[in-house]
Amino acid sequence: MKSISIDGIKNNLKQITQKIEESISIKEVIAQIESSVKKTTEFKELKIGNHIAKTPIIQGGMGVGISLSSLASAVANEGGVGVIAANGIGLLDEDYFKDGDNASVRAFRKEIRIAREKTNGIIGVNIMVAIDNFKKMLDVAIEEAVDVIFMGAGLPIKNIPVKRIREKGISVVPIVSSARACDLIFKMWSKIYKDVPDGVVVEGPKAGGHLGFEKDQVDKKEYQLSSLIPQIRKALDVYEKQFDRSLALIAGGGVYSGKDIYDTIKVGADGVQMATRFVATDECDADEKFKMAYVNCKKEDIGYIKSPVGMVGRAIRNSFIKNSEEGKKHKFNCTWKCLATCKANDANYCISVALNNARLGKIDKGFVFAGSNAYRINEIVSVKSLVTELKNDYIKECKLVNIKNLKPVIDKLNVLYNKYQNKLQIELACKKAYEKALITYNDKLIAELRNQYKKAKSSTLNVQLLLEEKLTFAWKVIT
Ligand SMILES: Cc1cc2nc3c(=O)[nH]c(=O)nc-3n(C[C@H](O)[C@H](O)[C@H](O)COP(=O)(O)O)c2cc1C
Repeated sequence: MKSISIDGIKNNLKQITQKIEESISIKEVIAQIESSVKKTTEFKELKIGNHIAKTPIIQGGMGVGISLSSLASAVANEGGVGVIAANGIGLLDEDYFKDGDNASVRAFRKEIRIAREKTNGIIGVNIMVAIDNFKKMLDVAIEEAVDVIFMGAGLPIKNIPVKRIREKGISVVPIVSSARACDLIFKMWSKIYKDVPDGVVVEGPKAGGHLGFEKDQVDKKEYQLSSLIPQIRKALDVYEKQFDRSLALIAGGGVYSGKDIYDTIKVGADGVQMATRFVATDECDADEKFKMAYVNCKKEDIGYIKSPVGMVGRAIRNSFIKNSEEGKKHKFNCTWKCLATCKANDANYCISVALNNARLGKIDKGFVFAGSNAYRINEIVSVKSLVTELKNDYIKECKLVNIKNLKPVIDKLNVLYNKYQNKLQIELACKKAYEKALITYNDKLIAELRNQYKKAKSSTLNVQLLLEEKLTFAWKVIT
């Protein structure tokens, strides 16, 4: 008789547990949690005007022939935005020293067309506002209907043919180093053109090439991307509301790994701009020796130059740079002043010629621009494998963060679940006692035990509700 009653209790317990588990759909909620973890770990698309990049990575434009059609099309084929840089591109044309202006236009057009043949992905161009033939290069980009025009090294405000740009469905993205510059560009565009650019690239002080910072600013916290991104987001918010459209915030400078991409997006960016990593790829348009300079350099080799164009630049410091700083002149003929700000008469070398020499592999007759993280590179890989590595690393980081976020919630859920099981047992014990009492016909005892059973039931229900609430929270945390 005794054993039957224990079995009965066990059976009841099993049934009620099952019932309650079903009623709070634990399995369903856990499945939802798992699927939402999967959802948030994928790369998010990057929308720049009408163009949507599946991979939220822009390959930063690298002038004087480092990022041309080969690199740009390879990046575009991986779902990112491939960028051909306009400055110094004329050096690819044999007539550059006779007619730099037309040589540049020719070479630029040619590279855009080759890139288009190699990919159906997104092709952008980088045109420095400071270059002498800015307007002509802009015309080429419009005529060739590139997808995105990035404009840096100056403020692209006046004389921008916005109407023609829009007619061709081209997106415009200025490159800035501060929220102030961003706000100024957007404010002036909205006044002059009743339109705004489609987003902005904020380039921090860890970038390669010419920097928008002075040497004493590069290590300061207030100039790092983590400080700049929220400020730029705030500046963009105003124009997003005013023009009722989303504006892309892209951040670059020192972004090296998938974890860096995750961290950059986490502080408010929609995507990243990366250049240094793309130099050490098979498809990069520079000579192998240029790429190997990245593979072989050490942290202490990466430093600054005071460029003849009047800006600070980051490069791999070699004897060419050191000798020039010590006064050695590298003879050159400035046939046409390619950069408005260049102090060619006072310079010990022509920066375009020096960079072109490096591009061709004559590193000791020039130098290599590089980002602060170039020393971490130790092999040349394909663009495909680089993007895959970045994506996998990004996914790994997302999963880690999700698990970290979820752990305290799961711990709490376990405590609650144990508590729930205990309450259930008490409830069942009360139920059993009450049922036994029913056959005693003792009204007082029956009433007392009924009360006790009711209390136990409501206590179980409270824990069940709490359990449901925590499960819902767990789900919310990771979506
Ligand atoms: C070799 C090299 C050349 C560059 N040339 C240009 C350029 O011509 N115009 C420009 O706007 N930025 C230029 N940059 C900057 C990149 O486009 C990019 O914004 C920056 O390097 C991102 O930082 P990261 O190299 O650490 O990824 C250059 C960078 C490198 C490494």
